[in-house]
Amino acid sequence: MLRNFISATVAAVGVLSIGGLAQAQETVKIGLIVPMTGGQASTGQQINNAIKLYQQKNGDTVAGKKVEIILKDDAALPDNTKRLAQELIVNEKVNIIAGFGVTPAALAAAPLATQAKVPEIVMAAGTSIITERSPYIVRTSFTLAQSSTIIGDWAAKNGIKKVATLTSDYAPGNDALQFFKEHFTAGGGEIVEEVKVPLANPDFAPFLQRMKDSKPDAVFVFVPAGQGGNFMKQYAERGLDKSGIKVIGPGDVMDDDLLNNMGDAALGAVTAHLYSAAHPSAMNKEFVAAYKKAYNTRPGFMAVGGWDGIHLVYEALKKTGGKADGDSLIAAMKGMKWESPRGPISIDPETRDIVQNIYIRKVEKVDGELYNIEFATFEAVKDPGKTKK
Ligand code: PHB
Repeated sequence: MLRNFISATVAAVGVLSIGGLAQAQETVKIGLIVPMTGGQASTGQQINNAIKLYQQKNGDTVAGKKVEIILKDDAALPDNTKRLAQELIVNEKVNIIAGFGVTPAALAAAPLATQAKVPEIVMAAGTSIITERSPYIVRTSFTLAQSSTIIGDWAAKNGIKKVATLTSDYAPGNDALQFFKEHFTAGGGEIVEEVKVPLANPDFAPFLQRMKDSKPDAVFVFVPAGQGGNFMKQYAERGLDKSGIKVIGPGDVMDDDLLNNMGDAALGAVTAHLYSAAHPSAMNKEFVAAYKKAYNTRPGFMAVGGWDGIHLVYEALKKTGGKADGDSLIAAMKGMKWESPRGPISIDPETRDIVQNIYIRKVEKVDGELYNIEFATFEAVKDPGKTKK
């Protein structure tokens, strides 16, 4: 009797665990950790929107696996990111962690990715060092070095001699400043003032007031996605748009997500970046139309990082025939190339970082709306932040 009970129990447990395993194998779980609240919320919303749109278009099954997204809001606070990544890996047994709206969040998760051999797909953060922090990190966003070197060269060659810089005081702001400065000064430009503002609730007013008096040729601005609207509002309120001082920078400050509400003060700003909603490709036109239809707003560069991040996962799963262990997925992702709404992109097999075109763009009004109009293209730019180290 007892023996029967034990063997029945063992059999039941056996069936259960096999059932559990079969289920685990049929689903690929992605823990999506992004800021959905707080100052960086627009980043999380854009990424989440783009992933939902991708799955609506392409289905939620690939290589026989159902791709399940588990969305978590870290409010861009790295302690939250770490705790959520740990819970997702240990309790939810996710195959992949993804998102990461800011650099400190991406860095906080890196040791966990390494330890658990779980790919970490960075869809937003842009400091060069990130991909060097774990062999399981792959990036589909950008680096600040990619855009800041190019706008530095452009400014020096286009009659801009004196520049004041305003950068967000954390890692990507420091990358933006360093790479801009190197290139701009090598081309003969002069930095007349350097100001750093806190990431949370920055006040731009004192800087803008000084600019009004000292009148550099241009202000170089890096603020993360979500803050450009506030910066340009204060810039216009102080009449700087009428002062002849140009706004230049990486394109984050002119994020398409906010650009159209900035008003005419944004006209003429020249930035270097990976994505414009006005990028004139058939694929981008379709992407922008679908995104607008679904969400009644324009996609920005963060949406594109999310779109390409989920595309990378789908294509890697196709390549591995549905195998979803970290090593197989990372091997499949290295060297992958595809066309994105931003243009042609690839994953550098050596660094796992994104290689992409960087466009120089100017804000213009088209059919009554503000757009970053691309006028020069630098093809297949690798992260300059890697080769320098
Ligand atoms: C970052 O924290 O790495 C970051 C966030 C937003 C940006 C750029 C960089 O627009």
